Amino acid sequence: TGMITIDPGYKNTGSCESAITFLDGEKGILRYRGYSIEELAEKADFLEVAYLLIFGELPNKEQLEKFHSDIKSESHVDEEMKKILDGFPKSAHPMGVLSSLTSALIAFNPSSVNVSSEKEMYWAIVRIMAKFPVLVAWTLRKKKGLPLDYGDDSLGYVENIHKMMFKKPNQEYKKDKTIIDALDKLLILHADHEQNCSTSTVRIVGSSHAGLFASLSAGISALWGPLHGGANQAVLEMLEAIEADGGDTKKYMAKAKDKEDPFRLMGFGHRVYKNFDPRAKIIKKAADEVLGDLGIEDPILSIAQGLEKEALEDQYFVDRKLYPNVDFYSGIIYRALGIPTEMFTVMFALGRLPGWIAQWREMRLNGEPIGRPRQVYVGENLRSFVPVEKR
Ligand code: CMC
Repeated sequence: TGMITIDPGYKNTGSCESAITFLDGEKGILRYRGYSIEELAEKADFLEVAYLLIFGELPNKEQLEKFHSDIKSESHVDEEMKKILDGFPKSAHPMGVLSSLTSALIAFNPSSVNVSSEKEMYWAIVRIMAKFPVLVAWTLRKKKGLPLDYGDDSLGYVENIHKMMFKKPNQEYKKDKTIIDALDKLLILHADHEQNCSTSTVRIVGSSHAGLFASLSAGISALWGPLHGGANQAVLEMLEAIEADGGDTKKYMAKAKDKEDPFRLMGFGHRVYKNFDPRAKIIKKAADEVLGDLGIEDPILSIAQGLEKEALEDQYFVDRKLYPNVDFYSGIIYRALGIPTEMFTVMFALGRLPGWIAQWREMRLNGEPIGRPRQVYVGENLRSFVPVEKR
């Protein structure tokens, strides 16, 4: 087998060739299928970006309409799934609920499991693009004690998600352009990020030919962690803690730099971006605009701005090239839209869904081998068994 090189955290290991997302961490460049993230966030909507990521090209009008109508035709979730949701306590973390429900979907959609032809893949993809938002909405509605519901086929993909999440019984749903635009933008910015922890998880689980939904459920679990997607919830909790503590940002800066203290400035730093995170730039601007448009004054926004300013001027952060990442400002927008803090990472998952799907599809179409890293063994040499009485 030759020499095995260890690369903890795979910092310098490429696991695949991919034609989906280009990322240059030094220059702060992010592109989906060759299109800059700035242009897509400004001009595209989430469903066309999903199509672009998954199938490689922006859809023309007919292709987009067909994709959307196929999704609508699959947007029901088996009623029995409600019983599974019922079994969770209300206090359950939405990410755990979502990954369980995604796994449970397998049992109700057996034809989406062992897919290998492009056509079978297409329908598995359509099904999850249709049903995942319903699961997201149910997860939120359960938290809020609202009745579970299905979508509205007359609406756009993102509008429908918004309605499914927030529609109150006996109340008209009112479309709000500011909110839908903000959601579109946030979902697009989260839609793919090459071989990050959750995406690598999806690819490696899928490489054993476990089905798409099983791979996605594993990806959701990976995303949950506070060093990854869970950072958006952690950022907001951190900002709230700083506010409750009198807004003393300097104290928390000192904690973040103290190597004896496990506290990290959540929403800062990135494995790949060492100059700035282009998504954070767009989200920061959007946070300002959305709060302005909705007429919300949130003291947490000024704490975030203060922290950012201090960190950017601080030698510790400068030396380590730590900049605000995508998660630093996204929570402020989610909060302004009325999304509970515990649901922030679920919103990330909703955005990342097409990226995970695209990466899974690419891996399967490339016929990639099963993922199976090696190790360097550092344990005991051969020794003899000792019966329990003699130990
Ligand atoms: N606060 C304080 N110090 C930090 C931070 C931070 N947020 N991030 C990194 N450092 C320090 C770290 O202690 C280390 O210092 P030293 O060289 O003195 O030991 C140095 O910077 C390098 O950090 P690392 O942990 O070796 O870097 P990594 O590439 O393994 O980790 C990271 C990247 C994103 C996990 C890390 O920066 C972090 O924990 N950030 C906070 C959590 C966060 O915001 N995560 C979201 C990432 S972006 C979206 C996503 O992936 O979902």
